[in-house]
Amino acid sequence: MREREVLYSSLPPSRAETDVLVLGAFAEGLEEEAFRLDALLGGALEEMRKEEMKGEVGETAFLRLRGAEGVRARRICLVGLGKREKLDAEVLRRAAGSAARASRERGGRDLALALPTGEDVPSHIRAVVEGALLGLYRFPGYRSKPEEREVERLTVLGPEEGREAFEKGLLLARCTSLARDLTNEPANRLTPEIFARRAEEEARKAGLGVEVWDEKRCEEEGMGAFLGVARGSKEPPRLVHLRYRAGEDLPTLALVGKGITFDSGGISIKPSEGMDEMKMDMAGAAAVLAACLALPVLRPRVNVWGLLPLTENMPGGRAQRPGDVVRACNGKTIEVANTDAEGRLILADAVAWAVKGGARWVVDIATLTGAVVIALGHQAAALLGNDEGLLEKVRRAGEEAGERLWVLPSYPEYREQYKSQIADLKNVGGRPAGTITGALFIGEFAGDTPWAHLDIAGVAWHDKDLPYQPKGASGFGVRTLALLAENLP
Ligand code: BES
Ligand code: MN
Ligand code: ZN
Repeated sequence: MREREVLYSSLPPSRAETDVLVLGAFAEGLEEEAFRLDALLGGALEEMRKEEMKGEVGETAFLRLRGAEGVRARRICLVGLGKREKLDAEVLRRAAGSAARASRERGGRDLALALPTGEDVPSHIRAVVEGALLGLYRFPGYRSKPEEREVERLTVLGPEEGREAFEKGLLLARCTSLARDLTNEPANRLTPEIFARRAEEEARKAGLGVEVWDEKRCEEEGMGAFLGVARGSKEPPRLVHLRYRAGEDLPTLALVGKGITFDSGGISIKPSEGMDEMKMDMAGAAAVLAACLALPVLRPRVNVWGLLPLTENMPGGRAQRPGDVVRACNGKTIEVANTDAEGRLILADAVAWAVKGGARWVVDIATLTGAVVIALGHQAAALLGNDEGLLEKVRRAGEEAGERLWVLPSYPEYREQYKSQIADLKNVGGRPAGTITGALFIGEFAGDTPWAHLDIAGVAWHDKDLPYQPKGASGFGVRTLALLAENLP
């Protein structure tokens, strides 16, 4: 596909020359811009709203114009915004996503959105551009015929003071789309080597420092937990280090993303039903990479490392066995009671390495447990950690991002569950509180360093279309992590 043009303009909506002009309708009546424009249309919009709309967020109705009304758009898309007093950034993200998709479906190639900016212009403008672009996202895929209906130009209309927020939204939406692309990629098309090469290319383009470690180098670092997982696959593992430098004497935030390019379960093999979905088990690594790519533009006042341990989890002839004991790079030994609890093994090494390297904060993000889907479904990621201050900052970043995070407890008693008879720890803690024991296991490798963990297994992938989230990978975490770096010091 041609690169889509995305523009910001403070033209009045009536003067936007476009296929489809998107305007808002509250449950109570037309939004102000729509109301003003409706005067030129003799009340046709209000009539359509009354006849066709119920007042829900994201519903759409279309009106064809003839050009004689002093309105230059060829069509108007009225999109529902729900109740006036409930309007917020998330409503706008959803409305913009639905409207953009519905407009594309009707053949619109050029869209302009004029949605309310309310009291908080930056957050609303950012939400509109994010919602529209993420709603229009499509994985390029491998079909021999490309999609015919595509939006080639998108303009967000708003006051001049919204321009900076527009740029930020555009950046975050593009980074999120990159994370989606990587996560949607099948495992034969995104092996650890290919992922590492992609990361290297993107990092170079963005102006980040980048280093890629091979198996031998990881061995020298003593990363036995990571390499234990990699043994079962013919595809060699990689560990990618991204570096964003803000200044010598500034503290460092380490972002660590689980990068299992395919999780078969290993010798503790998974049932075949739904196993294809496990190509998405690198969504955490994709989120870290994509968030780091935004940093040279956002210019946060902290140094940031992105650490991506990348490997398959396969049951090859040299695979580790249930019951094997491995040693992580901080010297801790782990009994691998279940080879399917591999995420925490690779993260243990990466987190321990970040701590040894002197990171002030460590945040890991991972499609870690099926249990989080039982706890929270597909509506929120689980957030855990060992430091109230850091948790609060992550939570705030999630709010700004429009990504829901729900804090689970880390009572010390849970730690009993992953004690081993023969090693320092074992990698599973039984059925109860599976998300918590998985998280706390990783936390053992953070020690006293402030650490937070996002379990995104329930939100990294969706089986059905949502307003700004077409089926498949969501790119969850990209915006939260980028905004966290901005807010940290
Ligand atoms: N990658 C899976 C977790 C997962 C499940 C991600 C569903 C996305 C959707 C992880 O490696 C895993 O297999 N976890 C096990 C842990 C168990 C063996 C302790 C699980 O959740 O069953
Ligand atoms: Mn697994
Ligand atoms: Zn996994």
